[in-house]
Amino acid sequence: MDTAEREKKFQEKIDSGLKVEAKEWMPENYRKQLTRMISQHAHSEIVGMLPEGNWITRAPSLRRKAVLLAKVQDEAGHGLYLYSAAETLGIDRKTMIDQLLSGRAKYSSIFNYPTLSWADIGAIGWLVDGAAIVNQTMLARGSYGPYSRAMVRICKEESFHNRQGYEIMYHLANGTPEQKAMAQDALNRWWWPSIQMLGPSDAQSKNSEETMRWKIKVESNDTVRQRFIDRTVPQAHAAGLTIPDPDLKFNEETGHWEIGEIEWTEFYRVIKGHGPCNRKRLKARQEAEREGRWVREAAAAYAAKQRARAVQAA
Ligand code: 3HC
Repeated sequence: MDTAEREKKFQEKIDSGLKVEAKEWMPENYRKQLTRMISQHAHSEIVGMLPEGNWITRAPSLRRKAVLLAKVQDEAGHGLYLYSAAETLGIDRKTMIDQLLSGRAKYSSIFNYPTLSWADIGAIGWLVDGAAIVNQTMLARGSYGPYSRAMVRICKEESFHNRQGYEIMYHLANGTPEQKAMAQDALNRWWWPSIQMLGPSDAQSKNSEETMRWKIKVESNDTVRQRFIDRTVPQAHAAGLTIPDPDLKFNEETGHWEIGEIEWTEFYRVIKGHGPCNRKRLKARQEAEREGRWVREAAAAYAAKQRARAVQAA
């Protein structure tokens, strides 16, 4: 078959809802889009450990510390899981890590904001993991087998992340006036960046035509965003918190919560590397890479020795 016939057959397979597996033929751009999205997703998981890790030693109780430790460890596992999913497309891990450390690769905009109080840990679990769940349950229906299956596993753990975050926010919002103010301040700072993390509007999204035609994303950024908003606004109200949007209103006809204008200039400033913490996050990853090099070299040397021994014994 020539390429046109192959692409036609490939699209028919996608349209019939069948999964594409690693060893099958795929259009080069299908591979490129997936490599881009999965590697950025993996980077997001690893960089996302930094703002939360900042509060492990300062958690207000042993229970909160244990829960946060478990969450941050989960994120590391998600990152490794997603790097492995990206490797099924032919890119190797070192290349992906080099792309991140050199600043060439993107990771989620949301992790370029500081965690200024304990309530931020609640806001991240509730809002950031909440937005990620809505997006990832959509991606779990995607056409690429290894990625969609990774999403099923990750979403189960994200649900725990989301619940523990909302529990922190609910308790603070119903605690002392100072605690309620801390929770409201965190919501004020994290609400709009969480709205933006689900990607540009459908009109501005440059990859969505292709990523949706091939069912890499089965729904658009705006559809996923609306689902996140509809799910989250009632939770804020149940906790007694105020969404920082004077234009927020419920549309009885559509059944959706409508929000004010999203500040896209802020979003593009952050993803271009000029957010509050971009430099700090990259520096932390570069330091970790340098300081961890001896561990990787020792593990590689040990593995090589084991392989040599096995060859000798055979
Ligand atoms: N942060 C950084 N860059 C973003 C972004 C964000 N929040 N949203 C979009 N972009 C970038 C895209 O990567 C693209 O740039 P590129 O072509 O150079 O890669 C550009 O903005 C245009 O966006 P598009 O809508 O055209 O891009 P996509 O079709 O890829 O949609 C997306 C954006 C919805 C984020 C999609 O990439 C996606 O679903 N990615 C996988 C999920 C993911 O990465 N989630 C990270 C969230 S954090 C997380 O899960 C950790 C958990 O513990 C909370």
